[in-house]
Amino acid sequence: MKNTFIIGNWKSHKTSKEATEWFEKLATLFKEETLSYENKTIILCPPFHLLPLVSSLIHEHQLPLQLGAQDVSPFEVGAYTGEVAASQLREYVDYVIIGHSERRKYFGESDEVVAQKTKQALGAGITPLVCVQSIDTTVPHGVSMIAYEPVFAIGTGNADTPEDAEKVLQTFKDKGMQITLYGGSVNPENVASFMKESAVDGVLPGTDSLDPDLFFHIIQNS
Ligand code: PGA
Repeated sequence: MKNTFIIGNWKSHKTSKEATEWFEKLATLFKEETLSYENKTIILCPPFHLLPLVSSLIHEHQLPLQLGAQDVSPFEVGAYTGEVAASQLREYVDYVIIGHSERRKYFGESDEVVAQKTKQALGAGITPLVCVQSIDTTVPHGVSMIAYEPVFAIGTGNADTPEDAEKVLQTFKDKGMQITLYGGSVNPENVASFMKESAVDGVLPGTDSLDPDLFFHIIQNS
């Protein structure tokens, strides 16, 4: 049985109070509903300011979740106002999303910057999860985990088809990627159809990770 990755991306959402409530609800669901998660890697990527709190909430509620960040500085620690360096993130996270299409679109992130960020993550021992928008997206050297996230499917409720996801992810597998995920309007109803595809190792829900109930049911149905 393949190991399934479910990676929630909270983007720029939630206060400390909202995060605390989300965890209370998720912990209740884990207690009350049946879920076998031995073969599942569940990762949550909250915004930077919530990493210490979320880390202690995971511990407090004894949940089988790991932490990821949504971005990383392309530089080492130093005089880079507003940036968080990989070595600082390493205290909390095992994974980092790099090159999400929202970063490329709103923050002008180029393939070169994506490569610099990947290098920083790898240097700090954090697994980079590089987002690709199509089969033509460049993946930096040393990356083994990618997520295919077609722009039309992000936050629109209009997911790509599992067949398309399979085709794209298989091309990345052929190029040597070990873990290949699909993201874009993943929900509790469609997750199983993506997981049926052999090149789909997991999913990256954004919108539906904000609701603990929907996130739990994505995990349950994956
Ligand atoms: P979505 O976001 O689930 O809201 O479409 C996915 C993503 O951008 O990672």
